[in-house]
Amino acid sequence: MQGKQVYIFDTTLRDGEQVPGCKLNTLEKVDLALKLEELGVDIIEAGFPISSPGDYESVNMISKTIKNATVCGLTRAVQKDIEVAGQALKYAKRPRIHTGIGTSDFHIKGKFNSNREDILQRAIQCVKWARNFTDDVEFYAEDAGRTENEYLAKVIEAVIAAGATTVNIPDTTGYCLPSQYGEKIAYLKNNVSNIDKAIISCHCHNDLGLATANSIAGVINGAQQIECTINGIGERAGNTALEEVVMIIKQHKELGFFTNIQTKLLNPLSRLVSDTMRVPVQPNKAIVGANAFSHSSGIHQDGFLKDANTYETINPDDVGAEGSKIVLTARSGRSALAYRFQKLGFSFTRNDIDVLYENFLQLADKKKEVDEDDLAKLAQEYQPEMSEVL
Ligand code: KIV
Ligand code: ZN
Repeated sequence: MQGKQVYIFDTTLRDGEQVPGCKLNTLEKVDLALKLEELGVDIIEAGFPISSPGDYESVNMISKTIKNATVCGLTRAVQKDIEVAGQALKYAKRPRIHTGIGTSDFHIKGKFNSNREDILQRAIQCVKWARNFTDDVEFYAEDAGRTENEYLAKVIEAVIAAGATTVNIPDTTGYCLPSQYGEKIAYLKNNVSNIDKAIISCHCHNDLGLATANSIAGVINGAQQIECTINGIGERAGNTALEEVVMIIKQHKELGFFTNIQTKLLNPLSRLVSDTMRVPVQPNKAIVGANAFSHSSGIHQDGFLKDANTYETINPDDVGAEGSKIVLTARSGRSALAYRFQKLGFSFTRNDIDVLYENFLQLADKKKEVDEDDLAKLAQEYQPEMSEVL
């Protein structure tokens, strides 16, 4: 692999599982954790151990099961949370505690009714507590996206000095523009004296549909870890979609990054997460949506059938998708119709197709999609001398 590695921190089992109706039991979580490890994620955020006995059990079981990936447990900046997480992660080969506190004035005043100095001290303290359990401590500055950069830099410098080895800069409310988020990461790179002792992590939410763009802006500006979920599931509008950032990094080699993800497993795992959590994937979802490799308009179909590169930049096989599809609708063209007939074993001349196309359009205007049965019927009803069944 060439370039700089971007570590993939998967939080499907924690931030993803916070979605209403997505709760998983321990066996389902262990099963997904094994699949995430097979996919090649570097860190699995297994849960929030103090939140419920069930989540404690899941983090504990995942810790015992996972061999290569780091297993991480979330906590608040509360001593008891950290002790419970330390216990839950006891058997992990590579345990990480993810602790932190809100640093924006919205959180400092609105949530904690506190002040910046008090929050700074609590941030330092939680990292010190966590270091009693593991050397791998990640600190999150919740709502960093709306935290003033100067104060954020002060907090980050202090938590690194206290022993944080990864510093997470969440855009918790999905508010930042990519330029703003990128500048925030660059600011920390340039203004935190000990920043080279920690990895900067991006944790972006999708409230404005910018989570993926923000995460990429983050790594371009010096972050080296992306927190993400399969299918982009997560609180409210979700988190950064793992499959999107991984494929952006893979497709855009000029960025100079790589990840350890086995991209052929992306579609199968997307389906498994969707089925297990009972959250359907939107058809137009990048990389893993049912239509991600479907072509339905005549102009696109004609170009695609001449040369796939005209309308596809990703090979469906590279991401474990079923393959490109030529879908027949009232917007489809003659080339697509001829191609689909050919796939069914019917070989028609250009003139035949011209006539059949009119019949097809009449049907397509009535139906959303013309399927194989419809095509067979159209072919049977058409009786010119020139047509020939292969
Ligand atoms: O969105 C967020 O800020 C979080 C933190 C707990 C990391 O999920
Ligand atoms: Zn989050």
